[in-house]
Amino acid sequence: MADLRINLAGIKSPNPFWLASAPPTNSGYQVQRAFEAGWGGAVWKTLGDPILNVSSRFAALSFNGQRVAGFNNIELITDRPLDVNLKEIYETKKKFPNHAIIASLMVEPKQEKWHEIVKRVEDVGVDGLELNFGCPHGMAERGMGAASGQVPALVEKQTYWVKEVAKTPVIVKLTPNITDITATAEAACNGGADAISLINTINSLMGVDLDTWNTIPHVAGKGAHGGYCGPAVKPIALNMVAECARHPNVNVPISGIGGISNWKDAVEFMLMGATGVQVCTAAMHHGFRIVEDMIEGLSNYLDSKGIASVSDIVGKSVPKYSDWGDLDLNYNIVARINTDVCINCNKCHIACEDTSHQCIDMLTDANGKSYLKVREEDCVGCNLCSIVCPVDGAIDMIEVPRELPPMTWNERQAALNGSLTCNVDVTN
Ligand SMILES: Cc1cc2nc3c(=O)[nH]c(=O)nc-3n(C[C@H](O)[C@H](O)[C@H](O)COP(=O)(O)O)c2cc1C
Repeated sequence: MADLRINLAGIKSPNPFWLASAPPTNSGYQVQRAFEAGWGGAVWKTLGDPILNVSSRFAALSFNGQRVAGFNNIELITDRPLDVNLKEIYETKKKFPNHAIIASLMVEPKQEKWHEIVKRVEDVGVDGLELNFGCPHGMAERGMGAASGQVPALVEKQTYWVKEVAKTPVIVKLTPNITDITATAEAACNGGADAISLINTINSLMGVDLDTWNTIPHVAGKGAHGGYCGPAVKPIALNMVAECARHPNVNVPISGIGGISNWKDAVEFMLMGATGVQVCTAAMHHGFRIVEDMIEGLSNYLDSKGIASVSDIVGKSVPKYSDWGDLDLNYNIVARINTDVCINCNKCHIACEDTSHQCIDMLTDANGKSYLKVREEDCVGCNLCSIVCPVDGAIDMIEVPRELPPMTWNERQAALNGSLTCNVDVTN
């Protein structure tokens, strides 16, 4: 059986599955039950100065029958006293010395505030710290969370303050509510971060009630933007992880977060550079026991590939992720419809005819039976027909022999004018 242990910047854990800082890690009772269920680590619900929460707090997006395809919250950091949390962290660590407990922290952007809280949480034996520069609501209005996390200079400064006193590894948790996440990732590295974690939640408004015209959720008839997470955010999170992983100045381990619901999602994040992963929404939706399937699935996957340790897959797909300008312009695929499997629903024809390249013909065979055929010479290989097709195996995307040698846009431009820039005149 493959070795599932990870070591993220010095934080050791029996497997790569951690619970993210959120309601599932709100108390010692919960974290201990999570460890018993199999979770390798837990990032405690963010600690800081006392706050007040509102009711209600959550809303979810159901899509085509799938409950909780996306999840939204307007909850703040822990509403339990710091002393109580610290006592429970101490007890939990004593009971589970080999599991990772990371204290998530959020305080005002003041040096003495960071020094004070770091000392207090390290005194109770945490394995690491995670600085929450990501919470998009409530705390941001007070200069904390995303308000700090959107300004690279503040990320760097506060990370530096923490590193002045921290004895355990420091993970900086990044907000996705920013144009270029590598800017804040780099700032965290410059401040001395030992690792980064991403993503926190995305600014969102879940909906509006058509009868009352209230926002969803609302608090006594008023709403405020919340933080979006769950399966719907996975592609956004995966891209951000990949962008950080391939950035030359972001050279610390990554803890991947965002829409991870099963072992396959976790493997994708690890292939794209994450040393381990964190999960919130999936645990809130299905409970702690999902980790059993995650461990078993990951273990079987590694065994089936003959991979001895989960660490061996970290970052393996990063070299395959690049800029558009590095893609081969002369690589071609086309759609091919398998008439044996096709049910003639015409969805591919409609999609291609109305919104793509009008290259799927409706034909009739000698017996008068209609069928669909792709005019391959006109197909651009966009994938749309295979995406809308409801039947597995009815449409294959096939690589066609190339007529020209590989050439990227960047190579083409360099050959044309010795420059990698596009030289588009935007003044006209
Ligand atoms: C209700 C709720 C509360 C959260 N509270 C915190 C928090 O206190 N600190 C923090 O860093 N992230 C918090 N998060 C964000 C999660 O840790 C995580 O980054 C995010 O939910 C994305 O992961 P997911 O798609 O697996 O849910 C919270 C998320 C939810 C849904």
